[in-house]
Amino acid sequence: ISENRIDAIIRSAVDGIITISERGIIEMVNPSASKLFGYQPEELMGKSVNMLMPEPDKSSHDRYMQNYMQTGIGRIIGIGREVTGLRKDGTTFPFHLSISEVHLLHRRVFTGFIHDITEQKLSEERLRRYA
Ligand code: HEM
Repeated sequence: ISENRIDAIIRSAVDGIITISERGIIEMVNPSASKLFGYQPEELMGKSVNMLMPEPDKSSHDRYMQNYMQTGIGRIIGIGREVTGLRKDGTTFPFHLSISEVHLLHRRVFTGFIHDITEQKLSEERLRRYA
């Protein structure tokens, strides 16, 4: 499969895809991810992934990653979790986060897959209320 084709698949993905370095620096965002968080891609590249989450995770995420690097025990990698994202306009939204780890020749990167569950949560809430 050619690089062009991989690129087209990533660009057209409905879910958000973000790649970060071991230091949590954003190296790649697909159009869905920048749209979900309300930023232009250029505003995200080179910044810390922390900017995309509210407290208390914002201040703790570097530690979460260091913890994983030291222990090898992932609390989201290979499991997935429902977390809260922070948009540029300050609003938040729920999403399901899956993370994969890729070992390159001299370093590793992490890829986050962001599946917005705003609608799912709303219908759950409606069901609870009217059931
Ligand atoms: C770990 C929150 C986005 C990469 C974690 C943990 C939380 C968290 C709660 C585990 C803490 C623990 O129990 O030890 C969030 C929130 C996000 C977010 C709220 C909202 C934007 C991302 C993204 C990536 C990422 C987009 C990758 C591109 C990691 C890695 C770890 C981690 C590598 C450590 C490994 C692990 O615990 O599985 N994050 N995260 N995070 N996160 Fe995030």
